Amino acid sequence: MSESLIEVQDNEGIVRLTINRPKALNALNSAVIDALEQVLVELETRADLRAVLITGAGEKSFVAGADIAEMRDKTPQQARDFAAQALRTIKRLETLPVPVVALVNGFCLGGGCELALACDWAVASDNAVFGQPEVLLGVIPGFGGTQRLPRRVGPAMALDLCTTGRKIDAQEALRIGLVNQVLSQDALEEYAQTLTKQLGGNGPGAVRSAKQAIHDGMDQDLDSALALETSLFALSFAGEEQREGMSAFVEKRKPEF
Ligand code: HXC
Repeated sequence: MSESLIEVQDNEGIVRLTINRPKALNALNSAVIDALEQVLVELETRADLRAVLITGAGEKSFVAGADIAEMRDKTPQQARDFAAQALRTIKRLETLPVPVVALVNGFCLGGGCELALACDWAVASDNAVFGQPEVLLGVIPGFGGTQRLPRRVGPAMALDLCTTGRKIDAQEALRIGLVNQVLSQDALEEYAQTLTKQLGGNGPGAVRSAKQAIHDGMDQDLDSALALETSLFALSFAGEEQREGMSAFVEKRKPEF
């Protein structure tokens, strides 16, 4: 049986996804994106889902970008369709109603960086390399980089990365806010697993609302976004979770969500 392009490991709703194309440094071709979308469509239906960790197979690369060999002969229409497929898939990852952690082990370039940008958390190995090198190939980012990168790191740094195509190391990625944490390769795996489990243990309704308020709010003017926050804040008082969380504090015990 052929190995799956996306490996899925499930531990009581804490799901680990591994992009499994290490010989091509996990470059995203149509088959990988298809496979990832299928997995995400399935995860969207899971009521017991608590958190997702996504990484690349092998120690050398998270994802080294979209597949250049596959893209080389595309027509503009085919390029548009390819980008649309990837954008839809990445959006599915971004809007999963649970925390999504990117474990960035090595190269995180082009479409790989754009995939990581759609995650809520990014933890990187100290040898990780980031960049949007598309201009060096005569194209621009097409998996959301020109939009999510400036929202994450600000327009000046996004313009720098997208127009020079230069690569940055993990420490610079940390400094500009592209990743949340940098760890040695030895410590990375255990840390990311613990973090994912921890995030998955928080109130699922509250986490879902926090993600929604931030993502949807970023696309609105401040007053509309604040009104959205108020609605979601008020809504969090409608369920069990808020009672449990606040009762646990008052009763000096751990909440059970
Ligand atoms: C296809 C890729 C690839 C990619 C690496 N490989 N990146 N194949 N697409 N993006 C393949 C190589 O061809 C090679 O295959 C194998 O992986 C190992 O790569 P090497 O280059 O031999 O490794 P190394 O010398 O260590 O260099 C690593 C690297 C380099 C610096 C990451 O591979 C590289 O520059 N890759 C391209 C990075 C990039 O430009 N990404 C952006 C793509 S555009 P063989 O068969 O020779 O062993 C993009 C656009 C998104 O992402 C939007 C589209 C709509």
